[in-house]
Amino acid sequence: MNNIKFEVARVFAHYLDSVDELADYRQRFVVTDPRLIYMDGNSLGRLSKHSALRIRQVVEEEWGADLIRAWNRGWYDAPSRLGDKIAGLIGAGPGTVIISDSTSVNLYKLALGVINLFPEREQIITDDMNFPSDLYVLQGAVAQNENTYRLKMIHSEDGIRISQGLVTNALDDKTALLTFSHVAFKSGYIYPVRKIVDAAHAVGALVLVDLSHSVGALPIYLSEWGVDMAIGCTYKHLNGGPGSPAFLYVRKDLQEKLLSPIWGWFGQQSAFDFGLEYAPREGIHRFLAGTPPILSLLAIEPALELIEEAGIVNIRKKSVLQTSYLVYLIDNLLAPLGFTLGSPRQPEERGAHVTLQHPQGYQIAQALIEQMSVLPDFRAPNNIRLGPAPLYTSFLEIWESVDRAKQVVETGMYDRYSGEPKVVT
Ligand SMILES: Cc1ncc(COP(=O)(O)O)c(C=O)c1O
Repeated sequence: MNNIKFEVARVFAHYLDSVDELADYRQRFVVTDPRLIYMDGNSLGRLSKHSALRIRQVVEEEWGADLIRAWNRGWYDAPSRLGDKIAGLIGAGPGTVIISDSTSVNLYKLALGVINLFPEREQIITDDMNFPSDLYVLQGAVAQNENTYRLKMIHSEDGIRISQGLVTNALDDKTALLTFSHVAFKSGYIYPVRKIVDAAHAVGALVLVDLSHSVGALPIYLSEWGVDMAIGCTYKHLNGGPGSPAFLYVRKDLQEKLLSPIWGWFGQQSAFDFGLEYAPREGIHRFLAGTPPILSLLAIEPALELIEEAGIVNIRKKSVLQTSYLVYLIDNLLAPLGFTLGSPRQPEERGAHVTLQHPQGYQIAQALIEQMSVLPDFRAPNNIRLGPAPLYTSFLEIWESVDRAKQVVETGMYDRYSGEPKVVT
């Protein structure tokens, strides 16, 4: 019976691919090995052909030929030019987003800015499903103000979601900042941002949302939701490239009130006057610090244009279909082999990746990578994350990856791999 179900699911994958309006976008990416199924675009997006060309152009024509003149030919204003493009993707107005530094550093700048803005308040609230780097940065930020500030952690009851009740109970009028990830990195749970913002604002707290796992994957409406600040990576669903710089958003009317703790010359008014006293630049530019990494910054631009062209609503529509199809395959074909679903079952509560749990999860992930040409990633203790990317993953690839995971377990192939994790999982 299961074999018939599996065959029917394969035919269905072919059908879904044949009516997929985004299918042609795959050709716009570099795909060197057709057997390799890439399921980790939620960690590092694929290289688009346009980004590859752009990098070559920046290196050879701009750096190579224009040299220092290139700063006045599009480099100096690139952080805000690209910031405005990202603003269009996240429901924010022009002049509210800038590309700079890493997500962790941006969080540090904003968290310290908030602590300094509210010296009379006492706490920052986050939760244990937030990305660990965010937790470390927040711990560091409060450690510098340890006599007055503390970090309060909300604990998830099921490891998949955080209930609204837990958030509301944690908030009080001593809270300066509430911060969380829009989409949880392990489970893929989508937080109800607007409800959380309303609850935080009711006690006068500001809200900072980490969009790393949602930007480029689903529509985001920061202004409409009333979000005060946001940060996010560009190397996941935005396909910006390894280590491409991150972005930060600050609500327009909050920008002049907040000060970055890093007073660098790119955030300085009239930096090229070389004055000796710091005076923050107006608007979102004040959150810049030092010289941006131009090569990796400019590679983001064509990748963003692909997403704009495909349309974020269309991307989300396909993503919901893909993750729902994957959940169906997990429930019907992998569950009998000891796999469980570590993500929300309802599509409206689920981002663009699906988490598969298994007691031998790490070994299975290794066998998939080393022997079966499937690249998922692994998050301790037992989570295999599968991230189909609507712009380049086909439905048949989803079916194939489940088929290969099934073979790994049925043949006991995973037994050959040690449970000792590698440095990068
Ligand atoms: C949700 C989230 N926040 C923050 C980070 C850290 O980003 P960065 O390395 O740019 O500081 C990551 C990295 O994967 C992430 O997934």
